[in-house]
Amino acid sequence: MKDQIPAIQSDALARIAEANDSRSLEDVRVAILGKKGTLTQAAAGMRDVPKEDKAEVGQLLNSARQAITAALEEKQVALQSLADEKALEGIDVTLPSRDVPAGALHPLTVIRDEAIGILRRMGFALADGPEIEDEFHCFDALNTPEDHPARNEKDTFYFDSGKLLRTHTSSVQVRTMESTQPPVRIIAPGSAYRRDEIDATHLSVFNQLEGLFVADDVSLPDLKGTLEYFLRELFGTDTEVRFRPHFFPFTEPSFEIDVKLTVKGQAPRWIEVAGCGMVDPAVFESIDNGRKDDAFHPDKVTGFAFGMGLDRLAMIRWGIKDIRLLIENDIRFLKQFA
Ligand code: DAH
Repeated sequence: MKDQIPAIQSDALARIAEANDSRSLEDVRVAILGKKGTLTQAAAGMRDVPKEDKAEVGQLLNSARQAITAALEEKQVALQSLADEKALEGIDVTLPSRDVPAGALHPLTVIRDEAIGILRRMGFALADGPEIEDEFHCFDALNTPEDHPARNEKDTFYFDSGKLLRTHTSSVQVRTMESTQPPVRIIAPGSAYRRDEIDATHLSVFNQLEGLFVADDVSLPDLKGTLEYFLRELFGTDTEVRFRPHFFPFTEPSFEIDVKLTVKGQAPRWIEVAGCGMVDPAVFESIDNGRKDDAFHPDKVTGFAFGMGLDRLAMIRWGIKDIRLLIENDIRFLKQFA
């Protein structure tokens, strides 16, 4: 026993020195210190050692274990740093790192969030509705007759089922009035779809922000004040805004709103940003017909509505000449907003 232990020790140290990866090192550890390892078995032999030799043999065992464990640890560290070195071979760690460009919000997201922020401060709550709509919510309930051009296949994306991609966010007005009690004061930002010729101011998918305020005594001055305040908050107090009489089936009277766009090096021009008006009683009637209560009876409520083009608002804010820039993901364009 006394000779056996130093033999095990020197054999172990030799094998550790030979191991050239962590796997073979682990094999060595198991072969010596594992359950059936040579040193473990030697230690089990302690019970047969004569009493007077026990102390000496015990000491031999301890120092062998310590020496082997230390050698294993040392070798493990050495193997690891060798592996690290290998992994870094050919890489100059002193080179400056590559730039990781910081991300930024898309201009449409910025303008949408600002618009929502202003309107929420004025008491409007967020509402939502589906982009795949039916004709009732997109047209019929909004007093838009069968023969209206918007209902034409040439202008609108229809599915075989008869459903369609909503042509405006105004359908959310209907969905909200179907499911809530007045007063209603909501905004609904979202996508709208049309078979438009694509050019500098038109895309077939664009972004709108719908608004609806219904209560027992809402008037035209409320509409004008709200939207003028909104546009001046968004573009600055000296922003020029004009309301032009227009026609929409679901409002009476109706207006289009233009904001003066001034781009450096260009003559200032009016750009249309929104449609609006006083909710047509025919719309309330259609809601009223679908509800059991009288909550939206046209004799009881009045309201105003508006729908604006978020893309247009972004174009005005930053003097963007072509709406297509907003969807092309050209990094040279987007970088300017980072
Ligand atoms: N839905 C109209 C459009 O897409 C915009 C609009 C006009 C919305 C008048 C309204 C409104 O809510 O009252 O052209």
